[in-house]
Amino acid sequence: MNIKAVYILGIESSCDETSASVSRNGRILSNITAGQEIHARYGGVVPELASRAHQLHIVPVIDVALKDAGITVDQLDAIAFTRGPGLIGSLLVGTSFAKGMALSLNIPLIEVNHMQAHVIANFTFREHQEGEIPDFPFLCLTVSGGHTQIVLVRDFLKMELIGQTQDDAAGEAFDKVAKMLGLPYPGGPFIDKLAADGNPFAYKFPHPHAPGLDFSFSGLKTAVLYFLKKERLLDPNFPGDKTADVCASVQETIVRILINKVRLAAKETGISIIALAGGVSANSHLRKTLTETGLEENWKTYIPDFEFCTDNAGMISAFAYHKYLAKDFCSMATTPLARLPL
Ligand code: KG4
Ligand code: ZN
Repeated sequence: MNIKAVYILGIESSCDETSASVSRNGRILSNITAGQEIHARYGGVVPELASRAHQLHIVPVIDVALKDAGITVDQLDAIAFTRGPGLIGSLLVGTSFAKGMALSLNIPLIEVNHMQAHVIANFTFREHQEGEIPDFPFLCLTVSGGHTQIVLVRDFLKMELIGQTQDDAAGEAFDKVAKMLGLPYPGGPFIDKLAADGNPFAYKFPHPHAPGLDFSFSGLKTAVLYFLKKERLLDPNFPGDKTADVCASVQETIVRILINKVRLAAKETGISIIALAGGVSANSHLRKTLTETGLEENWKTYIPDFEFCTDNAGMISAFAYHKYLAKDFCSMATTPLARLPL
């Protein structure tokens, strides 16, 4: 019997990336993302500019995603979109477009939680790509620009938040420190690059006291600020040629805070299958440290492909396939939500 393949168009517009992807039976055929350089000069995402840029990008991005996948709109079986969490103006663009397409094609509409989709990046692969996937239940450390979470993943559609940041997210800590060092936005990737030539133990920064499996990063940001102020009293050009050492030391501190909590979560839950997700999972030191800790602790560790770490629609169209199989569709009355719990 010839079973018809399921084609889903996923649309992601929660922050400053306009992205569209086509999946066939959950495998990625195309994944197209348009970034927004306009924010760099402001040192952070400007919500109003982000939603306007989404409006400009969404048609060409979807057009290229369909062409790249080699299909036409009439072959689509469902349209999926990021409902939240994110910037409301940005989410509105993707949501409205998805609704319009689903309505005109008379096919189901699937809402996706952006943070759940990040987790599912661990199951997101290109059509012929080989890759291992975690068994359920597993723990996922999801680290992005807006969130830092430890998630107990029981199934594709069954996730439980067991730890989260009480203030800044890990990505935010990277970006704010980068800003203090005069690096462009978003600074995480720049710190990663510069840190490669630095000594991670050159400077010591305090670890926060967040209870249980929760995190806190605002203290680190303040500690780095005061450290730089103090050093600049002695040398106004600080960190100058010590920039790599400062980056490596801050990065080491953030990674250590994250990994220590994962260790605790593994101990408390008795789960030794650990996955990584979110934009900060692109960080080379975090990837390396998780792999090394996994070997020490006898964990099975999983890290998404780079393409599916930072915001992308591949994770949306891949996740939507599982919702499609569960017939988990949403109505045309569904509205985007800036805050959407896991
Ligand atoms: O998941 P994401 O693309 O967007 C949100 O949902 O927030 O994450 C963006 C965050 C930014 O804070 C960015 O600086 C950080 O991920 N990031 C990195 C790296 N690549 C992206 N942080 C550290 N090292 C990297 N290589
Ligand atoms: Zn994200």
